[in-house]
Amino acid sequence: MNILVLGGGGREHAIAWALAKSPRCDELFVAPGNAGTDRLAKNVPGLNPEDGQTVLGFVRDHAVGLVVVGPEAPLVAGVADVLREAGVPVFGPDAQGAQLEGSKTFSKQFMERNGIPTARYRSFSELEPALAYVRELGAPVVVKADGLAAGKGVVVADELEDAEVAVRSCFEGAFGASGSTVVIEECLTGPECSLLAFVSDGKARCMATAQDHKRAFDGDRGPNTGGMGAYSPVPIVTSDELAAMHAIMERAAKATAREFEHDYRGVLYGGFMLTPAGPQIIEFNARFGDPETQVVLPRLESDLAEVMLAVAQGRPADVDLRWSEQWAVCVVLASEGYPGSYEKGKVILGVDEAEAVEGVTVFHAGTALNRDGELVTAGGRVLNVVALGDSFEEAREKAYEACDLINFEGKQHRLDIGKRAIAGREEQGA
Ligand code: AMP
Ligand code: GLY
Repeated sequence: MNILVLGGGGREHAIAWALAKSPRCDELFVAPGNAGTDRLAKNVPGLNPEDGQTVLGFVRDHAVGLVVVGPEAPLVAGVADVLREAGVPVFGPDAQGAQLEGSKTFSKQFMERNGIPTARYRSFSELEPALAYVRELGAPVVVKADGLAAGKGVVVADELEDAEVAVRSCFEGAFGASGSTVVIEECLTGPECSLLAFVSDGKARCMATAQDHKRAFDGDRGPNTGGMGAYSPVPIVTSDELAAMHAIMERAAKATAREFEHDYRGVLYGGFMLTPAGPQIIEFNARFGDPETQVVLPRLESDLAEVMLAVAQGRPADVDLRWSEQWAVCVVLASEGYPGSYEKGKVILGVDEAEAVEGVTVFHAGTALNRDGELVTAGGRVLNVVALGDSFEEAREKAYEACDLINFEGKQHRLDIGKRAIAGREEQGA
């Protein structure tokens, strides 16, 4: 079977890497891909992943039997709808299902209707009532742009004043059309944990737990980013909490079958907060997490191509998930200045040496080859250094040993990835 993966970040490299191991996988294409996917697949840099008709044309020309959509934008744009309509097996929900990520109001209403625990909230399209609700809830309070904002549309305000500034800036267009509706919600406390599930035909098959590190700097300081590192599994989750999280994902999957016009077929990402009152959903995403995927997929022992095809064809009973007992730690190497502005084109050295460390795989996020064929930086998040180990400490040590072998001008990374795995819950706000 020929497979096409849409996207070009570290998540897509990890997906392509796992698919390439499958005996079911013949030709593998990644559009647009990056310098890492180039080594195990055919990159298609000219193909716009958000243009359904063009993607369909490529699929027909290259006899593609499965399309895997990595990022949210093509899902929200309805690329899966176009392909499914044409009879192509697609891993990723249609535009309606993707609204669980594309509109926070849609998502909150879905949770409310289906008894899924989440923060109290209201949505507003006008300034004054929004400000009044902020004052009613009091600080701390959370302000979110309704639409997609690349992880930047959320402000957790400790002071009322900051919340008011955030509401105003949303309505003034800081996030474009994404901010014309604003969601204001109560602030929850507790450690965060991601639980992703393969969803098909109303059934959820949950993956292993993972924890992201969203802030740019050590000690969870600095601006929010796309994610600076992750680890899996998350040992602080109790068995009762895990059971509650599984039940929530199953309930959500069942609701997709009941409510949506077409079957939701792809990943449902549950971003949980483990509050004193039990796990609650902070957000749903309609795709794999980045960088959670980079620690979850290396622990998957099942054939990912089989799993994804079963999901895409509505056969959840055939989704057989087996997990390695090993621990995985991922450290993101970023460009200086990320998540703000940064320079590109810095020569990267040492990736092969890093991969020679036992248990280490380097997934590329923002990389390219320059005219001289040298590996250079091409994005904010540049490389994802992933290590597997028999203990959490071993995985973490190997990941950092490998990070030290890689060099490029302005290399920036957190030194405390996974520290929370071994810290007590008190340190995580529980
Ligand atoms: P989101 O983009 O919705 O995942 O939000 C980004 C981050 O903001 C989350 O990972 C949380 O750390 C934080 N956050 C979002 N909503 C809340 C909430 N209701 N209470 C506390 N923190 C939140
Ligand atoms: N790592 C968070 C996300 O993918 O949304």
